[in-house]
Amino acid sequence: MENNFLVKDINLAPKGEQQIEWVSNWMPVLDGLYEKFNKTGVFQNKKIALCIHLEAKTAYLALAIKKMGAQVWVTSSNPLSTKDEVAAALAVNGIHVFAKHAASKTEYWSYLESILKNKLDATVDDGGDICEYLHEHPEYGINIKGICEETTTGVNRLKALEKEGNLKYPAIAVNDAKSKHLFDNRYGTGQSTWTAITHLTNLNIAGKVVVVAGYGWVGKGVAVRADGMGAEVIVTEVDPWKALEARMDGHRVMKMEDASSLGDFFVTTTGLSDIINYGHILKMKNGAFLSNAGHFDFEIDIPTLKKKAKSFTVVRKEVEEYKLENGKTIYVLARGGIINIAGGLGHPADIMDMSFSVQLGCLYYFLSKEDSEAKLYSVPEEIDRLVAEEKLRVEGIQIDH
Ligand code: NAI
Repeated sequence: MENNFLVKDINLAPKGEQQIEWVSNWMPVLDGLYEKFNKTGVFQNKKIALCIHLEAKTAYLALAIKKMGAQVWVTSSNPLSTKDEVAAALAVNGIHVFAKHAASKTEYWSYLESILKNKLDATVDDGGDICEYLHEHPEYGINIKGICEETTTGVNRLKALEKEGNLKYPAIAVNDAKSKHLFDNRYGTGQSTWTAITHLTNLNIAGKVVVVAGYGWVGKGVAVRADGMGAEVIVTEVDPWKALEARMDGHRVMKMEDASSLGDFFVTTTGLSDIINYGHILKMKNGAFLSNAGHFDFEIDIPTLKKKAKSFTVVRKEVEEYKLENGKTIYVLARGGIINIAGGLGHPADIMDMSFSVQLGCLYYFLSKEDSEAKLYSVPEEIDRLVAEEKLRVEGIQIDH
């Protein structure tokens, strides 16, 4: 089959290939699972699509699936995180890739259609957009054996669909595997969020006040790394147990209304909208930085900020300066999109090695079964354990049995 693709500039491919080559050194768990599953022939001639942040680690997963004999389509779950050079590298290596950095919403949904109309056998979703599209266009979903969902937000959307009795496809909550959220959401986002913030701002974190909205897996990771860098951490929550947990982990806990005048850096991590509203922003200190590590770019009310601010200037790469009506200046990082990916390099490769190994295991699970019921599955214990044990093995760590 001819390789259909749509990328910004195919000449960027060598740069993307170099990035993929680099991360391949740090993904031995995925290599181990590849060896195991490749022997079974289960992926041969299957049609698989991935809609996930498009950067080097994802590319390595896509290429591993292709090497097992599948046809692979790729788009990005978030145009702001798309790396054009990696998209080009995938295209020259026989992957049907449809993605451009900063594509518009219309372009984004047209890319989804380009990959989903191929009557796929299985998909990797990140945030639930593939799932939504296949529910709206069931004619494209007739061969689907399973949807593997990467993140908390997507799993929450699947749970809601299942509860309403409207889930039409078998799906699996990859995010909820221990080998995924304990490491990726917590340590992966924790480290990479601060790598992105320090890189974008070139500022010191020690001695600053950091406000983290949400103390789930992502919030805990962001808070513990801020604490480790010497910041004073304030947590905001709606869940009384998480709030107490944050307190007992040594952080201050209060309402966003009270924290908004205290923070130097704000990081939202809830996956929900309007966590920082315009009223909060007006109370902030002059020079405060706003960022978001949740899946969607709606946690900070940037549309209202844009409308009401006296002026708006891009002052550095992915740093926007807003002059407020009260005379203060506020900075927004990575346009309020997912900071560690849209404004940085994404998760460390050796963390994504585990997450993508769970993904590969879940694809294998659906593809090797006859047919699965249309419901939300948990990751089977044997796949979760296989990934953790393989990680221990490559790290040279032995444990008691
Ligand atoms: P989680 O469900 O463990 O945590 C979310 C927390 O936000 C909960 O503790 C909840 O009580 C709290 N919350 C809800 N409303 C709130 C409010 N108004 N104020 C303060 N706290 C509030 O979810 P998890 O796994 O931490 O994921 C959070 C988001 O991050 C999701 O959108 C997820 O998809 C995304 N994510 C992002 C990653 C990245 O690379 N940046 C990696 C993994 C997940």
